This record gives sequence, structure tokens and C-alpha cells, in this order.
Amino acid sequence: GEVKLRRRAKELIVTARALVGPRGRGIYATDESPETMDALFRAAERDIEEQGLQTYSDSEKSERRKEWKKDAYEVLSSEYISGVILSFETLLEFNLGQILSNKGIIVGVRAHGELAPLPASPFEFIVQGLDNLLPQLQAARAAGARFSKWRAPIACTSPALELPSQVSLDIQAETLAMFAAISQEAGLVPIIEPDVEFSADASAGNMASCLKPGLKHHSRNTITPKDIAVATLAVISRSVPAAVAGVVFLSGGLPSSVAISYLSAVNALVNSSSAPSPFARLLPLTFSYGRAIQGDAIKLWVRGEKDAMKANLEEACQGCYRA
Ligand code: 13P
Repeated sequence: GEVKLRRRAKELIVTARALVGPRGRGIYATDESPETMDALFRAAERDIEEQGLQTYSDSEKSERRKEWKKDAYEVLSSEYISGVILSFETLLEFNLGQILSNKGIIVGVRAHGELAPLPASPFEFIVQGLDNLLPQLQAARAAGARFSKWRAPIACTSPALELPSQVSLDIQAETLAMFAAISQEAGLVPIIEPDVEFSADASAGNMASCLKPGLKHHSRNTITPKDIAVATLAVISRSVPAAVAGVVFLSGGLPSSVAISYLSAVNALVNSSSAPSPFARLLPLTFSYGRAIQGDAIKLWVRGEKDAMKANLEEACQGCYRA
């Protein structure tokens, strides 16, 4: 009992630290749902095809998703990628976790389910998926996963509606806490992901109830990456407990170069040795990027340009690592 629990806790800590370091390494998020993956291929095809789009049967679609993941994972190196987040399909049906763990890359799994409108506040969402989560995560662990993530959207779109509402923040926080406990029970390090929308400003007060606020504040013309970095670090230093192993930022649909410049500005502030920085002793900060890493690579892959796709994906990963 006691000894086993302690051993398990130690393993979780080792994994959590490996995910956010050594310095510069970060996570590649490839945990889109099958439907989202198909939509991404289709959008990429729409950009290039003059004539009508090809149609695919369900089994062709699934084969395509598998081929894409295989090609993408083949490129990766544990030199710059610490972990990759997989969908249940990729992990349990395609069995692609092994390719990654063979390279020393830690396998993660997306745990959250679909969204449903929050009855008390119809412009906000609750995240489903807690039911039956423990056996699913235990299956994921048996298939090689060592961490998991749960995305909770935090609406900050409408000052008029005063979003996010307190009720939604309370529910998301509660859901994230339940997820984290279940994940640890299954032997997986939980990444709790409050995904703060950046179409409007979020106040530090609202943000403080989340553990992963945002680099995602959208830049207006007058706002520099450094301004965003200062605001982000101020929120993190006030709200993230020191027991958290690290903070990983999303790319949120920003172009690769922009996402990388934001991360780089944060790191420059934290690591500046000249002026004594109030942020110098913050916990590790790195990336958990999806779109900023693979956005362009998917377009090349859909065109059949596999060599170019591989070069592009590798360059994007290295850019994040160096940021
Ligand atoms: P984006 O970088 O595409 O916003 O996704 C990140 C993610 O899902 C992190 O877990």
C-alpha cells in the first residue's frame, strides 16, 4: 500500500519534470479528434485543389490519419521534444505509442471528451468525459501512456456578457481537479489545460483561478511580445503554486513564428541574468504546441510532398526548442 503509493508518486514527479525539461524541450500536441483531423486534411486540400475534392470512405479516412501520424512521429527526436499527446484512436487503435517511446519521447493521451453548453450560462461550456475515465486512462497507461491532458475552454470573448462567469470557472476548476485526481490514480501525470480565449482581454483576477493563462492574449498592434511576456509571467508568479512542475503554453492557432516569438520573449525575461528579474526563479516554462508545429506540415503532406513535410516539421520543433 504505502510503499507502492510512494513509488507511484515518485514516478509521476520524475515524468512531470522530464516533460518540462531539460531546458527548451516541450510537448507536441497531436491529440485532435478523428473528426478534427479529417477536417484539417480537408481544409489543407481545399487550399490546393482546383477541381473537386476527393471523397474518402471511413476506412480510407482512418488509414490516412494513421499514415499522417506515422510520418510525423518518424521525424521527431527526444533532443527537442519531451512528449507527444495522442488521441485514444492513435494510442489504442493505431498503437503508435511505441514509435515514440522507443525514441525516449514520453507518450501522453487526451482525456477530455466533448463540450456541452452550460445550462446556467449558454455561451460557455462544460467538458464531458469524467464518466468511465479511470478505466480508459488505465488502458492508456497499459498502452504506454505516462501523462494525460484535459482541455477546459475559458470564454473571455464578451465583456458585455461578463464572461467568464463565476459558475463556469468554478465548474471548470472542479472538473480539472477531478480529472487530475483520476489521472494520478491511473498513474498518469495530469496536464490541466485552462484554454483561455484571447479574442478579448482576460483579467488577472479571472486568470488566477486557472493554472495556465495566456500567452494567448492576442497582440494588438501596440503590444509587443515582451509586454505579453511580462503580463503572462506576472499572472503565473501570482497564481501557480510552486508544487506545479512547469507551465506549458498552447499556440492557440497563432502562426508558428508568432507563437515561437512569444515563447522566446517569456524565456528571455526568465533567463535574463543581467537585471535581477522578479521572474528568475519561476518554474519551468515551455510549449505544448499543436498547430504552430504541424500547421504547415499538414499542407505539404496532403500534397504528397513528404520530404518537404518532414523538413518543415523538424524545423518547427527545433524552432520551439530554441525559443
Ligand atoms: P494548439 O497549440 O494548436 O493551440 O494546441 C495545443 C494543445 O492542444 C496543447 O495540449
